[in-house]
Amino acid sequence: MRLEHIGIAVKDTTEGTAVFSKILGHAPYKTEEVQSEGVLTTFFKAGETKIELLSATHPESPIAKFLLKKGPGLHHIAFEVNDIAAEMERLKGEGFEFTAEAPRMGADHKLICFLHPKTSQGVLIELCQDTSITS
Ligand code: CO
Repeated sequence: MRLEHIGIAVKDTTEGTAVFSKILGHAPYKTEEVQSEGVLTTFFKAGETKIELLSATHPESPIAKFLLKKGPGLHHIAFEVNDIAAEMERLKGEGFEFTAEAPRMGADHKLICFLHPKTSQGVLIELCQDTSITS
């Protein structure tokens, strides 16, 4: 598995973008809203990986709930896999729990799913599979 990106929850995308543009020394390369998840994502390149800023687009968004509970900060790490359904089956077989039963479409043309932090040492782990290869 390759570390595809690190997700960071921010209260305000403009402010978060300004901070991470200064840290990384360059601007984000794209912003994308994922309506089904209630998030606005902003992506920065960071060497071999990426930084994904996440802000909430409505109060019921999982990111809004996260910010309310924990404030801005590290939200998840994402590993890229070739076959997300097979990896879900494998990890379920190892006793891991997922936040949803099936992968769903996330930002960046990727199928995504999340390992529940209670079975992964308190870390929310995203698995992602690129679906843009053939397009
Ligand atoms: Co992510």
